[in-house]
Formats: sequence, structure tokens, C-alpha cells
Amino acid sequence: MKKAKFALVGLGVMGQNLALNIANKGYPVVVYNRTASVTQEFIARLTNGQSVTSAYSYADLMASLEKPRRIMLMVKAGPAVDAVISEIKPYLEPGDILIDGGNSFFADTERRTAELERDSFLFIGAGVSGGEEGALHGPSIMPGGSLAAWKALQEIFTAAAAKTQDGEPCVDYVGPRGAGHYVKMVHNGIEYAIMQMIAEVYDLLNRGLSLTATELADLFVEWNQGELASYLIEITGEIFKKLDPETGKPLVDVILDEAEQKGTGKWTSQNAFDLGAPTHAINAGVASRILSGMKSQRTVAQKLIDGPSPTFIGDREVLLAACKHALFAGLVLAFTQGFGLMQLASQEYEYALDMQVIAKIWRAGCIIRADLLDDIMQAYGRDPGLLNLLFDEDFNKAVAKRQGALRYVLINAIRMGVPVYALSSALAYFDAYRTERLPANLTQAQRDYFGAHTYRRLDKEGSFHTQW
Ligand code: 6PG
Repeated sequence: MKKAKFALVGLGVMGQNLALNIANKGYPVVVYNRTASVTQEFIARLTNGQSVTSAYSYADLMASLEKPRRIMLMVKAGPAVDAVISEIKPYLEPGDILIDGGNSFFADTERRTAELERDSFLFIGAGVSGGEEGALHGPSIMPGGSLAAWKALQEIFTAAAAKTQDGEPCVDYVGPRGAGHYVKMVHNGIEYAIMQMIAEVYDLLNRGLSLTATELADLFVEWNQGELASYLIEITGEIFKKLDPETGKPLVDVILDEAEQKGTGKWTSQNAFDLGAPTHAINAGVASRILSGMKSQRTVAQKLIDGPSPTFIGDREVLLAACKHALFAGLVLAFTQGFGLMQLASQEYEYALDMQVIAKIWRAGCIIRADLLDDIMQAYGRDPGLLNLLFDEDFNKAVAKRQGALRYVLINAIRMGVPVYALSSALAYFDAYRTERLPANLTQAQRDYFGAHTYRRLDKEGSFHTQW
């Protein structure tokens, strides 16, 4: 019987959709799931003779694959990945390729790579972004690990990946070992920042101007036609249109305001602190989700703690226009911080990350896809060693001419008592980064005063301590 070219292990919705995507591109796929009934039900639902076969044991799975075997795991990040690898390993032959397509922590991928390569197996840690729809119709794929394995996967992943309007596949080799999962982690950190900024603008317009869900839908649909064109802006417009079938109210109005998180954004902030990278807006995205989770305390606090009225006093059209420009500046600053972190990580972990390639494969398929990424790709194309996106002339101008709008939005939000942690963090990053003399001199003086931690001077080399 004709051997399958690709195996998919783990038939959650993402795994099923990826298997269908690859099969629909003409590559025979064999699927396996720990629970056989899940496999049976998936196979039973196949239509028009998709070239998907099933295996109910690892032995059968291996026997049905052409060599080198390409086996993609789509299982929950964490111990489950290790468990499946240890189950599969006895059946592998040197040169076989294991791919982890989950949101694994990059340090785990580093460990797994070392373990597997010791036995001459090849390992790819691939970030896969785009959710269930993306998995079926074309995700952004961020493969890292063995270059030889990438070469053996390139054709299939290129066929399966999302394509930009100019037909470019949103997949490319990202770098060695854990590089792919690292880049996916930062993708999610940027995702948190952007989602929080959108939420803050929603809050300001909903409470400040009493915009209804319908008015907000129209606004985000309009914004998605211009500089803010992006997946997250697009789905936000769709979300505001959705009515709750039970109450007839806008569904968003009946959703509990406690944001959950699986952890990838948190990992990004933790790693940024470890590496010493300023990721203000990403950190704000994580922290805002944490505070949103304190609903019961916030309900009590609202009664106990007074604040200003959130009603906006001013020209409605001015605020709406300012919000659009503020959001764009915020997005640029979120990407600036994310790319800055990846540049630092590339040196620290010797990933040799190419920022232009990363921007290129984020242009379609992934959750943070945005027209803006074309410009970021071009900026790094003009200068691969660009120290900071704000040093690119186009981005420098883009934020410079919108900083007034961002300040206007923040001034009003702060006056109205509407929390704008991510947007204000983005501006704080911008204002600190462009300031040569920060008040850290006082921090140094205080540290030396109470801890004799010494300080350096502007006018001469050395470390100094003062008996204050
Ligand atoms: C993607 C998404 C995906 C997942 C998020 C949500 O790129 O397709 O980011 O990875 O839906 O990680 O996770 P949170 O629970 O952390 O928001």
C-alpha cells in the first residue's frame, strides 16, 4: 500500500485540521490518537476521499510512513509532549523527524532536541499560529531545529502554510533548536499587548462615549479598512456584531470580564525580564489579564474606592480619530518591543534570528497578522541590523506624528479613570527610550545610600560610594 508522507499524532481540532490541510494539498497523511475512538470518528467524517489513513498503534503508524518519517505531534504543551516522545521513540529509526507543533516552552524544546539528536533522530519545534481556522486553511508556521529536517519538511509545510496576497508562504526556517518555539512565544506576547490595547480603546469608547456594540462594530470594520488592517481588529468588529441567542443582547456584553491565559504571554514577559529586554506593553498585557481575574475584589472595590466619572467631555469625532491613531502607534510600539526582545534573545541563545524572515512569515495566517507587518519586513530588509524599529525612518515618522493622538487618548482616559495600562506602557517605553537623561541617577543614589551598592559617574570611570 502507498506509504503516507506525513503523520499527525494528536487529534484535537488543531491536529485534525492540520491533517486535513496537508492531505488537501495532496500529501497522504496518516493519523493517530491515544484514544482510538477519536481517530475512528475523525476518519468516519472524512469526505471526498481525502488521503488520510489511520493507525491504532505506533508500530502501525511507523509501518505506514515513507522514510525519513515525518511525525508531527499536536498535543498539549508540557509533560504530555515528553510522554508521547518517550512512547514513540522506541519505534523511530535514525533520520526520522519528530515535529512538536504545540505551544511548547522553548527551553523544553532545547532539552528535547538534545535528547533526540543524541539518538540520531531529528527534532523540529514549530510554532503554529492561526487557531483552528488557520490550521485548516493555512497557519503561519515557525519551524526551528534541525536544518536537515526543515529541508525534508519544506515542501509540505510550504503547501500547508498561509499565503500572502502576493502568494508568499508564511513559513520559513527560523533557527536552531528552540528558536521556532521562542519566536512563537514572542508572537503570543505581542498578541497579548495588542489585545489589551484594543480592549482599552473599547473600554474608553464604550464607557466614555457610551458607544453601543453596533456602533463599535461599525467603527472597527471601518478601522480595518485602513492602517489598522489586521486580524485582531477584523475579528473585534465581528465580535461586536454577535448577538446572544439567549438574551438578544450583544454577546460581548454578557461575557464575564475575566481574561484567562494559557501562559505564553507570561513566558514572554518572564524571559524579557531574564534577558533585560524592555517589553512594557507585553508586560501590561499580562498584568492586565491578572487584574481582570480579580472580579470579586473589583466588585467590592468599586463600592469602596471613589474615582472620576468615565464620561468623556469633548469632541466625539476628535476622540474617535485619536483612538485610531493611538492604536496604530500602540501596535507599532508593541511590535517594536517584541522584535527588540527577539534580537536580544537571538544573541543570548545563538538563534541567528532573521527579523525580516519573522516579519515575512507573520504577514498571513497568524493571530497578529497585520498590514503593518509588510512595512516591518521592509524596514528590516532595508537594514537587517536595525537596532530598533523606531530608528527606521518610516516608523519613526509614523509614531512621531501619532504620539499627539496617543497622549490625547491617555490624558482623557486618565482624567476619566479608564485604565489604559498597555497603551500608557507603550508611551512610557517610547518616552523613556527617546530620553538620554533618565532619573535613574536618583535610583543609583538611593541604592548607594541604603545599600552601599555604589554608583558610576558621568564624568569619570569607576564605581563610587558616598557616606550620605
Ligand atoms: C495562535 C494563538 C494560540 C492560542 C493562544 C491563546 O497563535 O494561534 O496564540 O497559540 O489560541 O495561545 O492562548 P492564551 O490562553 O494564552 O490567550
